[in-house]
Amino acid sequence: MNPISIGVIGCGNISDAYFGGAARSKLVRVKACADLNHAAAQAKAAQYGVAAVSVEQLLADPEISIVINLTIPQAHAPVALQVLDAGKHVYLEKPLAATLKEARTVMARAEAQGLRVGCAPDTFFGAAHQACRRVLDRGLIGKPVGGSVAVLSHGMESWHPNPEFFFKPGGGPILDMGPYYIAQLVNLLGPVARVVACTSIGNATRTVTSEPLNGQLIQVEVPTTMNGVLEFVSGANVAMSASWDVWAHKRSFIEIYGTEGSLLGVNPNFFGGVPMVCKPNEDWQPVDISAHPFGQDNRALRSGAQVADYRIVGLLDMAAAIRQGRAHRASGALALHVLEVLEAFERSSITGAHITMESSCAQSDAVPLGAGEEVFA
Ligand SMILES: NC(=O)c1ccc[n+]([C@@H]2O[C@H](COP(=O)([O-])OP(=O)(O)OC[C@H]3O[C@@H](n4cnc5c(N)ncnc54)[C@H](O)[C@@H]3O)[C@@H](O)[C@H]2O)c1
Repeated sequence: MNPISIGVIGCGNISDAYFGGAARSKLVRVKACADLNHAAAQAKAAQYGVAAVSVEQLLADPEISIVINLTIPQAHAPVALQVLDAGKHVYLEKPLAATLKEARTVMARAEAQGLRVGCAPDTFFGAAHQACRRVLDRGLIGKPVGGSVAVLSHGMESWHPNPEFFFKPGGGPILDMGPYYIAQLVNLLGPVARVVACTSIGNATRTVTSEPLNGQLIQVEVPTTMNGVLEFVSGANVAMSASWDVWAHKRSFIEIYGTEGSLLGVNPNFFGGVPMVCKPNEDWQPVDISAHPFGQDNRALRSGAQVADYRIVGLLDMAAAIRQGRAHRASGALALHVLEVLEAFERSSITGAHITMESSCAQSDAVPLGAGEEVFA
């Protein structure tokens, strides 16, 4: 079958993961890329053998049926609406939009046009996270009752070449890192019923220490520390901490406590790792993830550590799902629910109240066992 032609809008830092992932895939082919900064599009076009065009040219190309939107969060909704108005499906980097209101507009437009919205994160497709899902689906720790999630570091101004957007609406540890954790929690436990939280800003300004903007001052406009609780429709409740004000800690990424045992998950920013299960009065045992796709290490981090990173599989699943007439897993509905949860943390802190979710979403089907993208075929 011919690969589906796709376009990429936004040729910055994360775009290499998508260009590289698409180049390895039989399901899609990047035909063209565009960026407000045309030089950025030209550089990626030369590197990956695609055409650099203007946003308008890309949207006017009848051969392109799906556009990946890798712009900054503030541009996610405006660019997604342009894509939908051009009659094309859109797949975005997270968060779905900078605000829930914008995200709802995007979803309503897609529904009116009969088009699909897909959205990162797709890390929950990863072998380690799907293996955790299988542990729960098979009842190995009984009924999930509680849990704990921690995403704690000291922020982005030390490495990203243009880190300002991380501290503006749509950024911050809640909206920037939160989607990985909430998407995985929904994958494991289903939709959220309500949340409560306290938030704060550690430093009103941040000084960039990465190049080329070393020394530039950023005004922080979003909370940088949050402690909250999520209550799921299933009845389970999970404590979540998200912060970019933390220099050191000893908490694990994600833990689920069930009536018959505990599950220790792995970093939901990546796809691999070794989850652990502990049954009552026994020792922790590793969970075998080898039967699941998307778990082999394939990328070196700046630290030199090897990780499994298959960003783009959510888009590949959407491309296959369009052909097969089935639902895709990294859906706009999931991303909208995730965004509502994340926005509710701050609203809860401001109002002092529990915030009940208006949106919901189906827990997506588990990713089939297998070796690679053929599991979508
Ligand atoms: N950098 C990462 O490691 C990473 C990881 C996962 C997800 N993300 C997400 O990916 C998105 C992009 O992040 P990034 O780090 O690549 O940012 P970036 O600033 O490096 O790149 C964004 C690009 O989008 C372009 N752009 C902005 N507005 C545009 C518009 N209206 N039309 C066309 N082009 C436009 C910019 O010129 C820039 O080249 C963000 O939502 C971020 O949260 C980033």
